[in-house]
Amino acid sequence: MKGRQSIDGLVGEGQAGEGRMRLERCSQRQIERLAVTIASLSKKGDLVLLSGPLGAGKTTLARAFIRQLISDLSAEIPSPSYTLAQSYAPADGVGPMVWHFDFYRIEDPSEITELGLEEAQAEGVVLAEWPEHAGSALAAGGLLISLALANRPRERQVTIENLGGWSDRLKLLEQAMR
Ligand SMILES: Nc1ncnc2c1ncn2[C@@H]1O[C@H](COP(=O)(O)OP(=O)(O)OP(=O)(O)O)[C@@H](O)[C@H]1O
Ligand SMILES: [Mg+2]
Repeated sequence: MKGRQSIDGLVGEGQAGEGRMRLERCSQRQIERLAVTIASLSKKGDLVLLSGPLGAGKTTLARAFIRQLISDLSAEIPSPSYTLAQSYAPADGVGPMVWHFDFYRIEDPSEITELGLEEAQAEGVVLAEWPEHAGSALAAGGLLISLALANRPRERQVTIENLGGWSDRLKLLEQAMR
């Protein structure tokens, strides 16, 4: 497909490799706890990338993340696989907006500009599934969460990498997940 690049290309210059953490054999509950913890560390302007194969749990993680961030634990969070983008306002009117993108069906990075990624990042927190399909449309930096299937069907292996701007917060996350 046109305009694709590897995740490595998204690492900001001079800020690569500033931390990585790995969690083995995570249940869905642990993934959701991780999502809630990362959400509580997130702020306006953040970009959180969700990578992993079909059915890995990217939307599941995003759901818990968004519910926490908008302070509405029963909010309906549909997968954006068809709409490509969904936005959510905080229930209390206080926190940041959240945008949830899914780039799986993107053929060309220019489509992402049209979806309003830049505006979304300027106004709130952005979660993006399938960042590998975004090519040059993604700014460098952010947090990359990669989910991989494990030996058991209900377990996942999670790698969390700082692509820029998350160094201190990754340390806090590590402490919180211990
Ligand atoms: N440990 C786990 N973590 C996350 N999801 C799990 C886990 N175990 C089982 N599941 C199930 O796996 C499915 C993951 O689906 P989900 O839609 O979140 O995947 P996805 O990565 O967003 O897929 P797609 O690439 O199609 O968007 C859900 O039905 C979820 O309940
Ligand atoms: Mg999904």
